Amino acid sequence: MQIIHSIEALRAWRAHHNDVAFVPTMGNLHAGHLALVAQARHCAKQVVVSIFVNPLQFGAHEDYSRYPRTLPQDAELLHSAGADIVFAPTVDELFPVPQSFHIEPPPFANELCGAFRPGHFRGVATIVMKLFNIAQPKTAVFGKKDYQQLAIIRGMVADFAMPIEIVAGDTMRAGDGLALSSRNGFLNESERRAAPQLYQVLTDLKAQILNGAKDFSRLERSAQDHLTAQGWRVDYVAIRTPELTLPGIGSRQLVILAAAHLGQTRLIDNIEIER
Ligand code: PAF
Repeated sequence: MQIIHSIEALRAWRAHHNDVAFVPTMGNLHAGHLALVAQARHCAKQVVVSIFVNPLQFGAHEDYSRYPRTLPQDAELLHSAGADIVFAPTVDELFPVPQSFHIEPPPFANELCGAFRPGHFRGVATIVMKLFNIAQPKTAVFGKKDYQQLAIIRGMVADFAMPIEIVAGDTMRAGDGLALSSRNGFLNESERRAAPQLYQVLTDLKAQILNGAKDFSRLERSAQDHLTAQGWRVDYVAIRTPELTLPGIGSRQLVILAAAHLGQTRLIDNIEIER
């Protein structure tokens, strides 16, 4: 496995390797990321993993500066997971001058997480477009935990007719149900104990819907109230179609998404339903 820091060196490597699957990350890797790498290995002969904490996708008061940067440990994990290349550019390498062109996602990027993180998905789409242009993969793997991100990247690739297949990786969970996330490391002991409540709420909603509950607005409200009563600051609980549109009575496939804060830490999660 090679660690590459410059665009030029990655391009030089890429000139001799034509069958590349790509896993973009912000590092501080956990088993969820490693599962995406394992998935990528089934898709292509070579796997490139990028590690870059992207300033474009953090709001002014978000956790960009405290976001954990753990390249040596990440590189060891990726070596064991069978990655071929770690692409770990500096901010100056990717932005020698401030980025002046941006990818503007469609309005649904301003809903759900986008409503609480203005500009977030514009920053994500812009960096992913840039990383795709650098790595030029035939396949890219994204986790379903960031469900809205996955939908936006799928849309971008389709809209721009990019020759890249987007593959979705299932969310990995701790034994108590908490979705693995780099941000879980911010939780103190009591927050960590409370954190699985988010997934619990989603599984309870799923059970109610599978039992025939149809008033989705009421379900969303009661789930929010329940979390709030347990000390969470809830951004949203939303029942949507897999395309993230509002569901009709007859929608067979649904996804329930939630984002909420425990103390200083914002957690997201989602669960799919097939009726
Ligand atoms: O999901 C992430 O870690 C990031 O949003 C991504 C896709 C690497 C872009 O910075």
